[in-house]
Amino acid sequence: MKKPLLIVTGASKGIGKAIAQQAKNDGFFVILADTDLVNGMLVEAELGTGNCKYISCNICDEGEVMNLFEKSLEIGGEIDVVVNNAGITKDKMIWNMTLDEFDAVINVNLRGTWIMCRQAAKIMKTQNSGRIINIASRAWLGNAGQSNYAASKAGVVALTRVLALELGKYNVYVNAVAPGLIDTPLTQKLEKSVLDKLIAAQPTKKMGVAADVANVVSFLAAEKTQFITGQVIYVDGGKNIGANMI
Ligand code: NAI
Repeated sequence: MKKPLLIVTGASKGIGKAIAQQAKNDGFFVILADTDLVNGMLVEAELGTGNCKYISCNICDEGEVMNLFEKSLEIGGEIDVVVNNAGITKDKMIWNMTLDEFDAVINVNLRGTWIMCRQAAKIMKTQNSGRIINIASRAWLGNAGQSNYAASKAGVVALTRVLALELGKYNVYVNAVAPGLIDTPLTQKLEKSVLDKLIAAQPTKKMGVAADVANVVSFLAAEKTQFITGQVIYVDGGKNIGANMI
């Protein structure tokens, strides 16, 4: 039997890599989309060439996104699931943040995700089937030092809700996953003193791991999961309830 096809962006490391690993275990053929060729090829080798393919793609480039979907359709015939995971941070208090730092984060996290969603929507509407899963962040609720990032992820939540409305009647479900503090190359860049404070504010007093997010993506991608659309599922150790210093 032919495998269903799942595209994941930002698949070369961190949460995207964990999503790819889990999707392979769930029986998907996985398209690994990323700008990081070196790590992307390593993930491809790890998962096995019969289970996945790395395709270089900058999600901010319309032409590269078109190419990604064309090649994926050639491989799978249909696009079953698209996981929009690629994202970046450039944290600073607003009074120190440059316009370039604001634009760069909005460009990848919101504009790039929108370009991916538009292409996925066109194809899935015609197929009359599909799932789009957008990786937002708990930070969309607000995080000091992340005016660019939180705004971009709030945009991703809004995009998710709008697409659930637009695509519902075409049998396409669109949901968001909002991770909190997850141990990945992204958070490994944080200063230890900052990380210690963030962990202290966690109700769980620990970080999550990439597989925690991948498990929820796996649930949303599964055929047996039905009738859930336009939702934001938090994988944040309870941080969305509020900071917990006790
Ligand atoms: P990461 O930095 O470890 O990996 C991100 C991947 O995205 C990299 O492989 C990078 O090459 C790729 N990428 C960046 N820009 C791209 C572009 N324009 N086109 C294609 N690929 C691109 O990040 P991590 O931690 O794995 O984060 C993944 C997602 O989860 C992001 O959207 C992030 O905002 C979100 N997230 C992460 C949290 C965390 O604590 N690590 C918390 C909440 C959300």
